[in-house]
Amino acid sequence: MKVGILTGGGDCPGLNPAIRGAVLRLLDFGDEVIGFTRGWKGLVEGTTTPLTLDIVEPLISQGGTYLRSSRTNPFKPGNEAQLEAVLANLKKFEIDALIAIGGDDTLGVASKLYHLHGINAIGVPKTMDNDLSLTDYTFGFDSASNVALEAIDRLRDTAKSHERVIVVEVMGRHAGWVALYSAVAGGADWVFIPEVEADLDAASAHLIKNRERGKNWGLVVVSEGVEIAGESDEPAELDAFGHKFLKDLAVGPTVAKEIQKRTGFEVRDVVLGHVVRGGNPTLFDRILGTRVGIKAADLVHAGDFGKMVALQGNEVLGVPIADAVGKQKVVSQELYDALLTTFNK
Ligand code: F6P
Repeated sequence: MKVGILTGGGDCPGLNPAIRGAVLRLLDFGDEVIGFTRGWKGLVEGTTTPLTLDIVEPLISQGGTYLRSSRTNPFKPGNEAQLEAVLANLKKFEIDALIAIGGDDTLGVASKLYHLHGINAIGVPKTMDNDLSLTDYTFGFDSASNVALEAIDRLRDTAKSHERVIVVEVMGRHAGWVALYSAVAGGADWVFIPEVEADLDAASAHLIKNRERGKNWGLVVVSEGVEIAGESDEPAELDAFGHKFLKDLAVGPTVAKEIQKRTGFEVRDVVLGHVVRGGNPTLFDRILGTRVGIKAADLVHAGDFGKMVALQGNEVLGVPIADAVGKQKVVSQELYDALLTTFNK
């Protein structure tokens, strides 16, 4: 067979191990594998790169994506010519099956290509946000959370030494998995996540209570997708999938100001942004990436198209891609409440 692979959306550690896992398995089947570069843009423009044993072999330890990425949406109204180009290039390059590695947006395109245009597509989920449904974890999440954790561990030294509160903003647009896990693992004093209404008074009261108990410093983690009442609602720039660019709307500095006002603590803020998406994949993400890549190749050879590879428990399996896209896996109130007990309220 001739199989195409692409990676779309925000990069994260684990993409390269997933490309490698898929290619190694496909080569075992005797397939020819090519990469389309820069996500769906590569299929629109017909830009490809070979994926051979020599090329993929060293990818296991590398962050980012060898295939490059973009946020290109050939199904965006007005982009009909892009969609035609995608379909024409699949024919031109004689692609028998396509493995699309990405988040909700990239997989949404793969799902439409399968359901509306009969393309033999398989989806492989990635997102450091960990918010894709039907899969327990996505690669990228473990690596990103560990970067956030390391930053929190470092910031604790300054918070303590200067008797300050430090507010750390981490990525997490719709779901607060990275914020919650890194905050709890880092022994933070409060965490704000998009799933739970932000209560600045409660957070401030807790920091004051800590001070009365002798802890005159604090760490607060906030997920970038948190909304604060009264925050500027200037219209934001949108990407090709209609999402706001959150980089210009950092919520961490607002949270820092509000906490300083309410507590009298000296407060600093640190926006980690893309830092959490970089670096080598952790062991967990190397294994998960490898496993889902291998499974994608197996689904191709089983002719089981229209599926997304998912991790459920410790099993890697295929689920209908259409069932996985368009809904987010968010932190439940129950989990949030349970983990918040570690903040000693
Ligand atoms: O991959 C998801 C994500 O990490 C979000 O948490 C964040 O808002 C977004 O990507 C930022 O992406 P970009 O690289 O386009 O700025």
